This record gives sequence, structure tokens and C-alpha cells, in this order.
Amino acid sequence: MDKMWAGRFEKALDKQADDFNSSIHFDSRMYKQDIIGSVVHAKMLGDKGIITESEKAEIIDGLGGILEDIESGKLPFNMDAEDIHMFIESELTKRIGDSGKKLHTARSRNDQVALDIRLYLMMECEEIGRLIKKLVEAIKDKASENTDAIMPGYTHLQRAQPITFAHHILTYAFMLMRDFDRIKDASGRMMSQSPIGSCALAGTTYNTDRYFEAERLGFSGISLNSIDGVSDRDFCLELMSAFSILMMHLSRFSEEIILWSSWEFKFIELDDSYTTGSSIMPQKKNSDMAELVRGKTGRVYGNLMALLTTLKGLPLAYNKDMQEDKEAIFDAVDTVKKCLGIFAPMIATMKTNKVNMKKAAGEGFINATDLADYLVKKGMPFRTAYKHVGEIVGFCIKEGLILENLPIEKYKEFDPLFDEDLYNEISLETCVNKRISAGGTGPQSVKAQIDYITEFLK
Ligand code: ARG
Repeated sequence: MDKMWAGRFEKALDKQADDFNSSIHFDSRMYKQDIIGSVVHAKMLGDKGIITESEKAEIIDGLGGILEDIESGKLPFNMDAEDIHMFIESELTKRIGDSGKKLHTARSRNDQVALDIRLYLMMECEEIGRLIKKLVEAIKDKASENTDAIMPGYTHLQRAQPITFAHHILTYAFMLMRDFDRIKDASGRMMSQSPIGSCALAGTTYNTDRYFEAERLGFSGISLNSIDGVSDRDFCLELMSAFSILMMHLSRFSEEIILWSSWEFKFIELDDSYTTGSSIMPQKKNSDMAELVRGKTGRVYGNLMALLTTLKGLPLAYNKDMQEDKEAIFDAVDTVKKCLGIFAPMIATMKTNKVNMKKAAGEGFINATDLADYLVKKGMPFRTAYKHVGEIVGFCIKEGLILENLPIEKYKEFDPLFDEDLYNEISLETCVNKRISAGGTGPQSVKAQIDYITEFLK
């Protein structure tokens, strides 16, 4: 395809070099944002008298036709074009002639691409926000069904203290709500600095109105330094950082789902429609979706690392290296969307096994802290109580007993402060119900957490 910049060259670009240079196979997804940006640019040029009213009308009309034809499939992208910007501009000129050649007045592809990516990502951030909310809702619903499901809470993957399954999985809802805020915050900052009008890097001699363009395109302000306007990709990095944290959360959740689905735990069973079988072992039911989410997390981190590394040595302002931003951020966006999309129904359809959870909670002396607290409430200093209970646990392990069936006489031998009421005090239900501190595993606290999430989802 003929290059618009071919003027000063004597030879055409080598075919392999042309392919290497071209970005249309990945930046064509920004066609709509490119056209919207151009429509607003033409309006500004017309309003400021830089082009005539009729040229403005022709351009806007021409761009509208191109948008329609792309969306209806009538106008396929020409993969020989250098990028989506060149493709649309040359198509416009093909359609309307010389007026089309005026669109690029007081503009450069450098500020154009910086604009298009922002507009594109804004749209994707809204979609990602919706997907996060869907997942938070699925978690909240699953938690609401399981406020009475007592399971062991773990530290170091050792059974630690009794909690409810509701309390446990609500943790992920809180992580995701922070992810939501982080993405909103980053996209808000991204949309506070419209780059259009920065031109190649230095601004322009034309009497343009950058604020008009910014406002029409949904920005709350403009980049106040034109060199920054074209060389800044912080917004891609910020979003990919937020996506990386989000994926880390999904990956931790995936890991637990995989563990809980195993015969060693069997706390949950994923629905058949979100699991796979083995090609050789007929008994297998694998948590492939969760494993893939855990796996794809590395890919999103990789995209962040790739762009950070691409940018670190770049002198100001635009350099072609920056074209690499798109594949990284687009892949991160696509991956995050796919992972969130699969996670919500996987959680919504999973079944919990309260019996197995309770059974696991009954082993492992997870009420030992409560036994120590029992002595503390009777006046014993916590450290002394802790030591006593440690000895009792050691004794039970040797005798094959648990705290619930160690006879009261034996307890009294360890300390006369012990009485019959200790058994009620160390029942798993009491241990859970008495954890009334804000944020704790007690039913009032879990209800407050669910209410908070309900508010967030409104
Ligand atoms: N396809 C290019 C990119 O994605 C557009 C900007 C090209 N600018 C330039 N000065 N060659 O970065």
C-alpha cells in the first residue's frame, strides 16, 4: 500500500520491513475510537476556521460512512495498511477526495494513537468493572448460603481456628472491590489528561482548541505538556498493575478452589459444566478453569513487565518502540475479561459440602485458643493459660483424644479452674458465634460484611 509519508523516499519499503512495521492486525480494534477522535477533531478544525464548514461536514459524513461500513462488514481492514490511523484516513480520502487530506491538520499520529488507546481502554475498563461486580455478586450469594458452614480457618495451611465458609470467601469479595476501585482510579486519571492537540510533540502553530476536543471526548482535562502528552504510557502501566493485582487475587482463589475440590479436602464440588475429565483416568474431575486462571496470571504479569521494560530506556518523545504497548495491554485486557467471565458462573454453580467442612473443623484442635481464653476469663494470665492448653493438647494427641472428649476429671488435674461449662465454651458453634469483633467470623459481623457488599453492588 502506498505510504502517505512516501514523499522524501526514493525506494518503497521492503515487504518484510513493511510487515514488521505494520500494526493494523492488532490496532484495528481501535477503529471506533479512531473515528470518534477524528470526528471531534474535524469539528474543532471547522469551528476554529482552520478548515471550511463544508470540508468539516464532508469529513464528518465520510467518517460516519466508514464506521457504518466497518461495522456492517462491508469494509474489511486492509492488512497492508501501516496502522488503523492510516487505514481510516486513506479510506476517507478515497471517498471524499481533497477534504479528506485536511483531517490530519494540527494533528499527528503520535497524539492520535495516545488518544485512541485511552478511549479504547476506557470502554474496556467499564466492561471489566461490570465483570468484577458480577463476580462479587456470585461470591456474596455463595457466602449467604453458607453462613452456617463451619470450616477450619488456616494459617501456614495448618488448621488454625474455626471460621465459616461465608467469612472465608467474602475475603475475595473485599479484594475484588479494591481491584474495582484501583481500576476506576487509574482510568479516572487516564481520562483527566487528553493528549490530542499535542501533535507530533511540540504543539502546533494553528489556533486549535484542545479543551473543546477533550471535553467532547469525555476527558476532564488535557495533558498540560505536549511532550508528556505523546510520550506518556503510565496509564497502560497503571492499569496493568491493577490487572496484575486482580489476577493475583483470582489466582489465590483458584488455588483454594483446586485444593478444596481435591479428595483430601472435598469442601466443594465444581459443577460438571466447569470441570473436565482425563483422557486416561476415568475417575478424574479436574478444575481446569481455576488452573487456567492461575496459569494466565503469569501472562498478565508478563505483559506488565514487557511494557515496563520497553519504556525504560526511551528518550522523549514518541519512539516506535511504543507501538508495543498495544499488544501488551490488549492481551492483559482480554485475559482479565476472560478470567472474570469464567469465574463468576463457576462460583455461582459450585456446591459446598458442609459436612466435610465440619468434619475437618472437628480435627486439629482448632478450638485450643478458645480453651485458653476460657482460663483467661477465669482470671489466668494468657501466657500461663496458653502453656496449660499446650500441655493438654499434647496429652490428647498421645491418648488419641480431642478436647471435646477429654473427661472433666482429667481437665481438673491440669487445673482446678476447669469446670463442666468448658465443653460448651469450646464447641465449634460457640467458637464461631462468640467471635463478635468487627470483621470477625461471628454471624453479626459476617452479616455486616454482606450488607456492605450489597451496598457496593447497588
Ligand atoms: N502505529 C503507531 C503506534 O501504534 C502509531 C503512531 C505512529 N507514529 C509515528 N511517528 N510513526 O505507535
